[in-house]
Amino acid sequence: MAIRLGDTAPDFTADTTEGTIQFHEWLGDSWGILFSHPKDFTPVCTTELGAFSAAKSEFDKRNAKLIGLSVDSVESHKGWAGDIAETQGSALNFPIIGDEDHRVADLYDMIHPNANDTLTVRSVFIIGPDKKVKLTLTYPASTGRNVGEILRVLDSLQLTSEYQVSTPVNWTDGGEVIIAPAIPDEEAKTRFPKGFKTLKPYLRMTPQPNK
Ligand code: BEZ
Repeated sequence: MAIRLGDTAPDFTADTTEGTIQFHEWLGDSWGILFSHPKDFTPVCTTELGAFSAAKSEFDKRNAKLIGLSVDSVESHKGWAGDIAETQGSALNFPIIGDEDHRVADLYDMIHPNANDTLTVRSVFIIGPDKKVKLTLTYPASTGRNVGEILRVLDSLQLTSEYQVSTPVNWTDGGEVIIAPAIPDEEAKTRFPKGFKTLKPYLRMTPQPNK
């Protein structure tokens, strides 16, 4: 069954390149980014793992832990890590789950048989500290993900979990945000002391409150 926003992220125990983990315990009170790649020793995946490793400090700043997965073995992941370091200029610095029996892939519906009946698609699950799924993304094998976009949505998820705002199209950290329509103007004046512009009664823009 597909995992939907708001669901509790399924818990599991699995072997990884950094030892055996119990997923929820490993997450602790962090945010989590669980993402699958189709196969070790393949070109797009090599670039993705290098880019996520290079950006690890950005995820750390956001109290977010990265964890990858493919249906290859931990030994295979470890062998491939050398290629990632050699070709991408960044060594792997977060765990990759070995999932040869597809146990975790099936739990998270990461194998889409009409795309490929054995390999995982490029899934991304962003999980909050409450262990609820906050965002899902699915890309085909042929299209590498954008690390900047994943950081951007993480910024939005973290901001909107703290303040009664939402983020508009193409928003990036530091940009104007939208005040929740349910908040009356009088309350908005105290909640958003930097002020706001009313473009329509339902569309009120305010500077990002935590900047
Ligand atoms: C890739 O990472 O390049 C890839 C992986 C599996 C199938 C196709 C492409």
